[in-house]
This record gives sequence, C-alpha cells and structure tokens, in this order.
Amino acid sequence: MATDNQGVLPLGSEHDIVASRQHVRGLCQALKFSLVDQTKMVTATSELSRNTLIHGHGGRMHWILREQNGWRGLELVFEDEGPGIADLKLALSDGWTSGSGMGLGLPGSKRLVNELDIQPAPGRGARVGIVKWK
Ligand SMILES: Nc1ncnc2c1ncn2[C@@H]1O[C@H](COP(=O)(O)OP(=O)(O)OP(=O)(O)O)[C@@H](O)[C@H]1O
Ligand SMILES: [Mg+2]
Repeated sequence: MATDNQGVLPLGSEHDIVASRQHVRGLCQALKFSLVDQTKMVTATSELSRNTLIHGHGGRMHWILREQNGWRGLELVFEDEGPGIADLKLALSDGWTSGSGMGLGLPGSKRLVNELDIQPAPGRGARVGIVKWK
C-alpha cells in the first residue's frame, strides 16, 4: 500500500484529540463521504480517542484508506498500552462505565460505523478498530 494511504497520529493530550478529529474530517472529505457520514466518523473518532487518552493513558491512532471490491472506506485503529479492556461484552453495553463517564462512547461509536472490532488484550493495552465504507 502506498505510504500516503495510511498514517499514524499521537493521542497523548487534548490537543491531539482535536488534531485527530480534524485529520479524520479531512480524510472523510477526500473520500467524498456525505456530511452525515463525516459527522458520524468524526464523532466516533472523538469518543475512541478520548478513551485512548483517559482509559488507556495515551496512545495513537492509525488511519488507513481501504479499497475492497470497488468500495472505498476509512479504517481507524486506536491503540494504547494501558490496562486493556477486560470484559468486551460489558464495555460494549449501553451505560456501563468503569469510571465517571456515561458509558456510551463504545456502544455509541459501534452504531455510527460499519464495523467496530475490539482486540482482547487485557494487561497489554487496548486496540479498537473501526471501518466506515462510502
Ligand atoms: N482504551 C481503553 N482502555 C481501557 N479500558 C477502556 C478503553 N476504552 C474503553 N474502556 C473501558 O470500556 C468502558 C466503556 O467505554 P465507553 O467509552 O463506552 O464509556 P466511558 O468512556 O466510561 O464513558 P463515556 O465514553 O460515555 O464518557 C470504559 O469505562 C472503560 O472501562
Ligand atoms: Mg468513553
């Protein structure tokens, strides 16, 4: 894959979250996503990058422009070396939080994209991938 079709951004501060949102909006525009789909992807980015920062104590976001059977899409992978997500089913339940949040970030994001996939790796960090197809 060409190097300009993927990249990685740090998620270590509030400013990084803003930068990742802006980058994702730009990618969605380049892919000619509808305004609604752009907003959905940016909202999911917001939630997942905040999880990386707060629960994962910082990490990074990989972005990959995908092409499959003539479809174009955007894949984002949020990765950290924090405590990891021990119970995937619980984490994806509406309203469940281990902290003081609303517990809606993960289940909400899942509904905004076409694919959401959590890699189970308790103790070795978290890896949450999403894909949205045009
Ligand atoms: N990167 C991560 N590392 C470790 N645990 C995580 C991570 N992301 C999510 N979790 C766990 O999954 C739970 C649910 O995440 P979710 O985003 O749905 O809710 P929240 O972050 O607690 O609250 P909200 O997003 O509504 O403010 C979190 O409370 C946390 O325990
Ligand atoms: Mg959250």
